[in-house]
Amino acid sequence: MRPTRLMTLLGTVLIFIAWISPAQGQPRPLKEKIRSGHELFHMYSCANCHSVVGKDRKTGPNLSRMSVWASPILGAAVMWNHVPRMSKAMRDRQIPWPAFKGEDISDIFTYLHSLNPHKGAIYAYRGDSHIGKELFAGVGCQACHGKPFAGGSIGPDLGQTAWRLKNENEFATRMLRHAPNMIDMAKKAGIIWPKLTGNEITNIYAYLRTLVKTKHRNPGKSN
Ligand code: HEC
Ligand code: HEC
Repeated sequence: MRPTRLMTLLGTVLIFIAWISPAQGQPRPLKEKIRSGHELFHMYSCANCHSVVGKDRKTGPNLSRMSVWASPILGAAVMWNHVPRMSKAMRDRQIPWPAFKGEDISDIFTYLHSLNPHKGAIYAYRGDSHIGKELFAGVGCQACHGKPFAGGSIGPDLGQTAWRLKNENEFATRMLRHAPNMIDMAKKAGIIWPKLTGNEITNIYAYLRTLVKTKHRNPGKSN
C-alpha cells in the first residue's frame, strides 16, 4: 500500500474512533450539553410553563436563577418536590410527562445553570450513606419500596435494582421518569409525598450505592 493511501486509511480510522467515542461514556463538551439542554427544554414543553428570561408570567416559576443545578442530582431534588403540582398542571394541559433518558436531566440542568447570571459554585457533595439509610426509612421511600432485599411492596425492591443506578444522572433520571406513577400510588396508599433537600437526596443516593457493594460482598444474603 502506498504511503498516501495508508494515511487516508489511518485518517478514516481516526475519524471513526472520534465519532464513536462519545457513545462510550466520554464526558461531552459543556457547550454541547448546554445546546442539547436548550433543545430538550423546548422539546419536553418545559418552555410552555417556565420562562428563563425576562419577567413574562407563566404557570410555573422562572427557572433562570438557581445556582447549584449543574449537578443533575440537585436539580432532580428541586424538581422532585414540585412533581405533584407540576404533573397535575401537565395533565390538565394534556402535555405528556417526559420519558427522560440518557443525559437529558443532566443537560437540562446544565443549560439552566448556564443562564444564572451569578452562576455560583457547583459543589460536589458526596453524600453520607448512614444518614441516607435513615432518610430512606424515615422520609417514606421504604414505606413503598420496602427494606432493600426484603422484596418490595408497592414499589420495586431497590436493593435488587440498585445496580442500575450507575451514577447520579441515572438515579436522577429514574426518579423523575417514574415520579408521576409514584405520586398516583402515594395518593392511593395515603402516603405524603416525601420532600427532599439536595443534601438529603444525595445521602439517599450514597446509601443506595452501598447496596450494590453489599450484594457483591454477600451474594444471596438478605440485608
Ligand atoms: C404544564 C406546566 C408545566 C410544564 C410543562 C413543566 N412545568 Fe415545571 N413547574 C410547573 C409548576 C406549576 C411548578 C410549581 C409547582 C409547585 O409550586 O409545587 C413547577 C416547578 C418546577 C421546578 C421547581 C422550581 C422552583 O423554583 O422551585 C422545576 C425545577 C421545574 N418545574 C422544571 C421543569 C422542567 C425541567 C420541565 C420540562 C421537563 C418542566 N418543569 C415542565 C409547571 C410545569
Ligand atoms: C407511594 C409509593 C412510593 C414512594 C413514597 C416512593 N416510591 Fe419510588 N417508586 C414507586 C413505584 C411504584 C415505582 C415504579 C414506578 C414505575 O415503574 O413507573 C418507583 C420507582 C422508583 C425508582 C426507579 C427504579 C428503577 O429501577 O427504575 C427509584 C430510583 C425510586 N423509585 C426511588 C425512590 C426514592 C429514593 C424514594 C424516597 C425519596 C421513593 N422512590 C419514594 C413507589 C414509590
